[in-house]
Amino acid sequence: MKKYKIAVIAGDGIGPEVIAEGTKVLKKIGELDGSFTFEFDHFPWGCAYYLKNGRMMDDDGMEKLRKYDAIYLGAVGTPGVPDHVSVRDLLLKIRRGFDQYVNLRPVRLLEGASCPLKNVKREDINMIVVRENSEGEYAGAGEWFFEGKPEELVLQTGVFSRKGTERIIRYAFEIARKEKKTLTSISKGNALNYSMVFWDQIFKELSKDYPDVKTSSVLVDAAAMFFVRQPHKFQVVVTSNLFGDILTDLGAAIAGGMGLAAGANINPERTFPSMFEPVHGSAPDIAGKGIASPLAAIWSASQMLDFLGHEAWGKKVLDAVQKTLVEAKTLTPDAGGKAETSEVGDAVANALK
Ligand code: NAD
Ligand code: IPM
Ligand code: MN
Repeated sequence: MKKYKIAVIAGDGIGPEVIAEGTKVLKKIGELDGSFTFEFDHFPWGCAYYLKNGRMMDDDGMEKLRKYDAIYLGAVGTPGVPDHVSVRDLLLKIRRGFDQYVNLRPVRLLEGASCPLKNVKREDINMIVVRENSEGEYAGAGEWFFEGKPEELVLQTGVFSRKGTERIIRYAFEIARKEKKTLTSISKGNALNYSMVFWDQIFKELSKDYPDVKTSSVLVDAAAMFFVRQPHKFQVVVTSNLFGDILTDLGAAIAGGMGLAAGANINPERTFPSMFEPVHGSAPDIAGKGIASPLAAIWSASQMLDFLGHEAWGKKVLDAVQKTLVEAKTLTPDAGGKAETSEVGDAVANALK
C-alpha cells in the first residue's frame, strides 16, 4: 500500500482548527480507497513556537521538511509577533526555499456558495489564478536608511528575473493550452516602467510559442474592476506575486468568501515538496471559537490529491464540498450557517463517495 508522508504545519489562529478537518477528510479517503494512505507528521512551528524559542521553525526545519511528499499548512500570524517576521521566517521561507514558484489559486463559484455580485451566473466565475510565488515584489530586497532621522528613506526592490518571469508565464500558457482556455496576463506596465514593462514583453514573446492560446493583457487596476463587473472575462490568469495576492482575496470575496479560497504552492519539477494551504490567514478575530470554515483548507487538500496523481479523489472532495454547500445544513456562520468547524469537516467526510 502506498503511504504518503505529509508534513503538517497547522500554525497559528484558526490554522489548527481548519487543518484538523482537512486531515480528517484525507484520512477518510485513505480508508475508502484502500490502495493508499496518509501519514501525518505534525510540526509545532509558528508564532507560539517563536515566542518560546525565538525562531519560527527549527534551524534544520527545511531539511526535515524536504523528505515529505507534501506539506499541509494552516496559517501563520499572531497579534504580538510582527507579521513580517512570522511570515518571512516560515511561510515565505518554505515557498522560496523549496522553489514553489507557482501559486495556483482557483477562483470558482461552487454550487451553493454565496456570491455578492448582482447579475452574475455561477459559470461566470471560474478562473485559475497562476501567481508568481518566488520573487517579484516579495523578493525581500531593499534597504532602510537613516532610521529615525528626518531624511529617513526605505527601498523595497522588486526582483523580476528572466528565468522567474518566463517560467511562471509558460506554466500558465501550458494550463491554458491543455484546458483550451484563454490566458490573461495582469500587470502594470504604465506605471512600473522596469518590472512590468519587462513582464509584458516576456508575455508577448512567449505568446508566439502558443498561437493556439487566446491571450489578453490587462492592467491590474482595471482587472480588479473587471473581477467584480465582468468576471467571465477571466479563465486562466497569470500575474505577479503581489498582484496575485491582492487579486485572490478579491477572488475569494466574489466566490464564497475567505472560508472557501484554496491555494497550492507548487514546485513543478518536484525537486522539493509542494505546499498546500488555504488563501486565508490566521483570522485572529474568530480564532479559538470553533467557527472558522474548514472548506478552504479542505479544497487545498483536494489540490494536494490532484498533485499526488489522485485527480478522481480531488474531484470527489470538491463534489463533497459542493454537496455540503448546496444542502446548507452544516455550514459555518461566514457561509450563513450555525455549525462548528468540526461539524462541517464531518459533513464533507460523510459526503464522500
Ligand atoms: P485573514 O485571512 O486571517 O482574515 C480576513 C477576514 O476573513 C477575517 O475577518 C477572518 O475572520 C475571515 N476569515 C478568514 N478565514 C476564514 C475562515 N476559514 N472562515 C471564516 N472566516 C474567515 O487575514 P488578516 O486578518 O489580514 O490576517 C490575519 C493574520 O494572518 C496576519 O497575521 C497575517 O499576516 C496572517 N496571514 C497569513 C496567511 C498565511 O499563513 N498563508 C495568509 C494571510 C494572512
Ligand atoms: C497569502 C498571504 C501571504 C502572501 C502573506 C501572509 C505573506 O497573504 O498567502 O495570500 O501575501 O502571500
Ligand atoms: Mn494573501
